[in-house]
Amino acid sequence: MGLRLKFNIALLLAMVVGASIAGYFAHRLLQDNAREEVLDSARIMLQSAVAVRGYTVGEIKPLLAMQQKRQFIKQTVPAYAARQYIEQVQKEYPDYNYKEATLNPTNPASRATDWETDIINHFRTHDEAHELIGERATATGRMLYLGRPIKITNAACLACHSTPAAAPDTMIEAYGSANGFGWQHNEVVGAQIVTVPMSLPLARADKAFVAFMSSIIGVFVVIVLLINVLLHFVVIRPVTVMAAKANEVSMGALTAEELEIKGNDEISSLGQSFNRMHRSLANAVSMLEDDD
Ligand code: HEC
Repeated sequence: MGLRLKFNIALLLAMVVGASIAGYFAHRLLQDNAREEVLDSARIMLQSAVAVRGYTVGEIKPLLAMQQKRQFIKQTVPAYAARQYIEQVQKEYPDYNYKEATLNPTNPASRATDWETDIINHFRTHDEAHELIGERATATGRMLYLGRPIKITNAACLACHSTPAAAPDTMIEAYGSANGFGWQHNEVVGAQIVTVPMSLPLARADKAFVAFMSSIIGVFVVIVLLINVLLHFVVIRPVTVMAAKANEVSMGALTAEELEIKGNDEISSLGQSFNRMHRSLANAVSMLEDDD
């Protein structure tokens, strides 16, 4: 096996091992980052919904207290405000969702679907759980969901969610008395669930990965080319010339021209040594011939 082949096999091996290790870690890092980014968006959305709810209870509801006596103003209900908020967001970002998924909701639009019911039941059976994060495949691609329990800890909630008799008549007129009642104190009645699409950040991560791997392989290719050029001019060519000369001299061509030495690296010092040996040999032989 020639030197060139040995070097290239070693370089190729280094490239495959190096690129695999770098690729493995880069891929994991990029995917983790993409997921983290999606999770951040989900958290911001959830916090925005909480903010809208707080604003509604703190600032809107007191302003409309008088009017509320005559007619139920749904704009004072935080759950309604949160639904309006997400509807506005969805005009720009239709794949993003926030829902106060509830097992027995006042507004049927908030009824939990199958997978949402699973999340609510998780919170109903795991009292210590405050957050649930997961992924699911949907028709529009992979989604990340973030859920938090809705637990009735404020007795004021039961004014409208315990029995129709306790609820304001104006509310019954607006929503009927069939749904959204029978909630208990300290019961987890639903979950705030944010869903955020993962496809775009994941695609971005894949693109970054391809760019990263291409640049790594590009750098390797340049290194391999450079090493091959160096190997050719610095080692293989001078050594081949020297080997040919050694052959020539060993066959008895003692008067052959000496090697032309360039540079002062290890190879040229080998050439100088060879020339010296060539000269000594020629001298020794000519002395022997003179003796005859
Ligand atoms: C003044 C009456 C009233 C009070 C008090 C009230 N709610 Fe509601 N709640 C409603 C109405 C009406 C809706 C339906 C709003 C809509 O159109 O989405 C609703 C909806 C909800 C929803 C969304 C699911 C559903 O049932 O449609 C949740 C969750 C909820 N309320 C939780 C609470 C909590 C928690 C409290 C106490 C902090 C509370 N509510 C206090 C009237 C009330």
